[in-house]
Amino acid sequence: MKSRIGEEPKKRAGYRAADLVDDGMVVGLGTGSTVYFSLERLAVRVREGLSIRGVPTSLQTSLRARALHIPLVDLEEVDKLDIAIDGADQVDCNGYLVKGRGGAHTREKVVADAATRLVIVVTPDKLCDCLTVPVPVEVIPFAWASVARSITRLGGTPHIRESGRGKDGPVVTDNGNLILDGDFGRIADPPQLEKELDAIPGVVGTGLFTRFPSRTRVIVGEEGRVRELSY
Ligand code: A5P
Repeated sequence: MKSRIGEEPKKRAGYRAADLVDDGMVVGLGTGSTVYFSLERLAVRVREGLSIRGVPTSLQTSLRARALHIPLVDLEEVDKLDIAIDGADQVDCNGYLVKGRGGAHTREKVVADAATRLVIVVTPDKLCDCLTVPVPVEVIPFAWASVARSITRLGGTPHIRESGRGKDGPVVTDNGNLILDGDFGRIADPPQLEKELDAIPGVVGTGLFTRFPSRTRVIVGEEGRVRELSY
């Protein structure tokens, strides 16, 4: 996604998050164009002697981390993560998030859930009073039409996500599933909507993240400075 915001604020946020990582930590490595810079900074720190193990949230992040020589570990090999660093598409004033523009939200939520601290790196355009962007819903292919009907019953407008580059037809996630983007307009009660979407048979995971505010720190990269928010 092309952003109106320049790269510098993303880099500032991404680097600040990477600098929160201490020696010996197990680190969740999120996905997206802001975490891109966290990986860049972590790679430098690893070259300088920082010892970490990363748990990637997507194939894309896994490939890039390997190319940068950041040591990786499978989620099943660790009991918990010390910190997860990830991006977001929107962050409201309660610390509720919408994620999943890149289709990685299911794995990102698993990793966030296993992490003691969740550090979200964003630019100021992502901050809002009330979540309004469409909610990505990962569905097993067999169930996409029935899940779409359920989203409509919940007051949303579902659109199956079509691929951007390199492939015709719908986007297939790293888990082999499809994505429905559910447009709910202003989301009055994000925790309730997350529960209702999670309860639809065939839904694998949604991009609504409402369970983690108490352990979330949001790092906002701006021109010339970084702001930090907690909830
Ligand atoms: C990946 O599926 C997403 O959850 C990203 O973390 C989120 O879309 C933020 O990405 P950017 O940092 O590229 O905006």
